[in-house]
Amino acid sequence: MTLMNPQPRPGVLEIEPYMPGKSRAPGVAKLFKLSSNETPLGPSPRAIAAYQSVATHLQDYPDGSASELREAIGRAFGLDPDRIVCGAGSDDLLNLLARAYLADGDEAIHTAHAFLVYPIATLGTGARPVAAAETDYTADVDAILAAVTKKTKIVFLANPNNPTGTYISFDEVKRLHRGLPPHALLVIDAAYAEYVRRNDYESGIELVATSDNVVMTRTFSKIHGLAAVRLGWMFGPAPIVAAINRIRGPFNVSGPAIAAGIAAIEDVEHQERAREHNTRWLTWLSQEIGKLGLTVTPSVANFLLIHFPQTRGRTAKEADAFLTARGLILRQVGAYKLPNALRLSVGSEEANRLVVAALKEFLAKAA
Ligand SMILES: Cc1ncc(COP(=O)(O)O)c(C=O)c1O
Repeated sequence: MTLMNPQPRPGVLEIEPYMPGKSRAPGVAKLFKLSSNETPLGPSPRAIAAYQSVATHLQDYPDGSASELREAIGRAFGLDPDRIVCGAGSDDLLNLLARAYLADGDEAIHTAHAFLVYPIATLGTGARPVAAAETDYTADVDAILAAVTKKTKIVFLANPNNPTGTYISFDEVKRLHRGLPPHALLVIDAAYAEYVRRNDYESGIELVATSDNVVMTRTFSKIHGLAAVRLGWMFGPAPIVAAINRIRGPFNVSGPAIAAGIAAIEDVEHQERAREHNTRWLTWLSQEIGKLGLTVTPSVANFLLIHFPQTRGRTAKEADAFLTARGLILRQVGAYKLPNALRLSVGSEEANRLVVAALKEFLAKAA
């Protein structure tokens, strides 16, 4: 008999570990981290105060059902709090959905350059991630529907998607849903919904409210500036909410996160300031970087995908090294099958102007 060490379930060792955005540039005095789509405005001062107020009773367990937070979210969006589940970031919820609805041999579809947590969460369950081709770096409903089989249990759709910044209209989302079999769960990840300024876009609330097989996930990490506390939420049909509540950690959301989240969701002015800042600088960055002769994928989120030529001296890798040496940290997206691109988060005015100036210098040097 051969003795075997403990073995993880099949699929786990196929996972490429998730690499977060860099946050260091050795030897550089001032850093601008533009690699993780964090908000340059930070959180609402009211959220910071609420977070600090919890510091005096850290010995207490939080409310395991996060009921006050769910009520605050319910008020903000006009939703039934009983149909909301909160998680330690939306990552937590995406993983819980995979765990609850996928098993060995099942399939979960994501788009070709989709957020990497989907294949990671899928492989962790023993199921198989299936990539559907995109058109112009945008989800393609026909390609997704063509990838559906009897084994498809989840379709993950990031709308808008990270790292491409592209989106599909609500009509297209509804067409996707209409084409899915009832046993397939459509997970609409709307982490960047607040930034989108397009009349034909919707985060998916209406579709969840009227369907049995759609959930929407949201995050406090982006417009609310609370990435450090790890907080997200999902809205779903009652049976799906009940399933997720059975498998989530009983205290999966911390007390400081609950307090900060309530204050953040109620500070509508702060959200509006963040949205205004983003709209102004997303447009400016897209135009200025385009004028330099680089291709920028049109984005509706708080980041941009910049494509570089493959000629020596001008590549994405060389641009990344050049920018990093100046304290400007962007995201390499090779892991997203985009080796010739870099993702830039919209930063402060100072950071945005520095990036454009540095890219200009980089391209001039290579000329
Ligand atoms: C599309 C998308 N979904 C979900 C997340 C996860 O957000 P969090 O776990 O911080 O809520 C991110 C973070 O970058 C994202 O880009």
